[in-house]
Amino acid sequence: MKNIRVALAGAGNCAWSFAQFVALAQAAPDTRLPGLMCHTLGGYRLADVRIVAAFDVDEAKVGLPLAEAFTAPVISATGFTDLGADRDAPVLPAPVLDGLVGPLASVVRPAAAARDATPEHVAKALVEHEVDVLVIALPTGASRAIRMFAQAALTAGTAVVNCTPEELARDASVSRRFAEAGVVLLGDDLRSHLGATCLHTALIELLLSRGLELQSTYQLNVGGNTDFLNLADAGRSASKFTSKANALRAAGMSDVDGVAGPSGFIGHLADTKLCFANVTAKSVLGSQVSIDIKLTVEDSPNAAGVIANAVRAAKTATDRGLSGAVDAPSPLLFKSPPHGLPESEARAAFLDFAS
Ligand SMILES: NC(=O)c1ccc[n+]([C@@H]2O[C@H](COP(=O)([O-])OP(=O)(O)OC[C@H]3O[C@@H](n4cnc5c(N)ncnc54)[C@H](O)[C@@H]3O)[C@@H](O)[C@H]2O)c1
Repeated sequence: MKNIRVALAGAGNCAWSFAQFVALAQAAPDTRLPGLMCHTLGGYRLADVRIVAAFDVDEAKVGLPLAEAFTAPVISATGFTDLGADRDAPVLPAPVLDGLVGPLASVVRPAAAARDATPEHVAKALVEHEVDVLVIALPTGASRAIRMFAQAALTAGTAVVNCTPEELARDASVSRRFAEAGVVLLGDDLRSHLGATCLHTALIELLLSRGLELQSTYQLNVGGNTDFLNLADAGRSASKFTSKANALRAAGMSDVDGVAGPSGFIGHLADTKLCFANVTAKSVLGSQVSIDIKLTVEDSPNAAGVIANAVRAAKTATDRGLSGAVDAPSPLLFKSPPHGLPESEARAAFLDFAS
């Protein structure tokens, strides 16, 4: 089986955790790693992934080897292991566009090289590095930059995994262009490996399966990494609220009073994320059931678990001659796929695709 050559658009916290997960797998290809849902997916092990390049705009990252870029001050995800074979992958400059707006502009200074970078440079680099899959992990709300990367991948014939809630796979005109070009596009918005959305939607599915009538729900999320800093700006977080609402609707929550989204930045939490959720429902004889959840997770490793599946799903779909948005693996991997499913159906469709 060949390697999967991956490039990272955005060398931030999710990318750092994913690169470490790949390094652990490369060091022990036949070991079952905690949190790795599928040891092989479409025949690929996580150890078969090679990170061959990254793109960023931060002056503390651009021009450095990947392993050094992840020592930048804004990185708050835990370092569990050194990067192995991929430690020297280059971090290339990309056009800034709307990548650093709002609070991010106060913590990241754009590299001079990013000012000269063009979409054509990005497409050319994807071809030169023979990239199979581009993982887009840019700040939420950076819709122009995210669309620029999608267009560059389309030009280069590179499959895309969209970790962000900005609509690509869910935008019919974008997914049609990928389908017509014979290029795979998976998205949108990572559904973290064991995160708020998966727990919340599994709980909703359980209550509905027992015939309860949902009345109201909320899901409040706080954290202290740059993702939460960015999402604290109301001008940047709209797509995250929409994406979480899409996930709850796919779980069966229609016409219910529900709120779910990022709820604040608490700097000292760093990469720890807290989720507080409640579901209230009507049961037998109109009696009330109310369930509260508190979830504490490290945010970025939780994203890495999904990216580990998504890059292999994108390459597998490409190998199978699929193109555009691919339905089967997407509802388990993303909050806002074109067609969402309840958790158990999403898992069954994914495992069927993965085998
Ligand atoms: N568990 C999770 O962490 C999780 C779950 C679901 C979705 N997501 C989404 O994944 C995305 C990435 O999250 P993160 O925590 O890694 O964010 P981050 O802030 O750590 O990283 C974003 C990176 O993008 C870079 N960047 C900004 N503009 C750029 C441009 N024009 N070109 C190239 N790089 C640019 C930044 O410098 C930074 O390195 C976000 O949209 C987030 O909402 C994360």
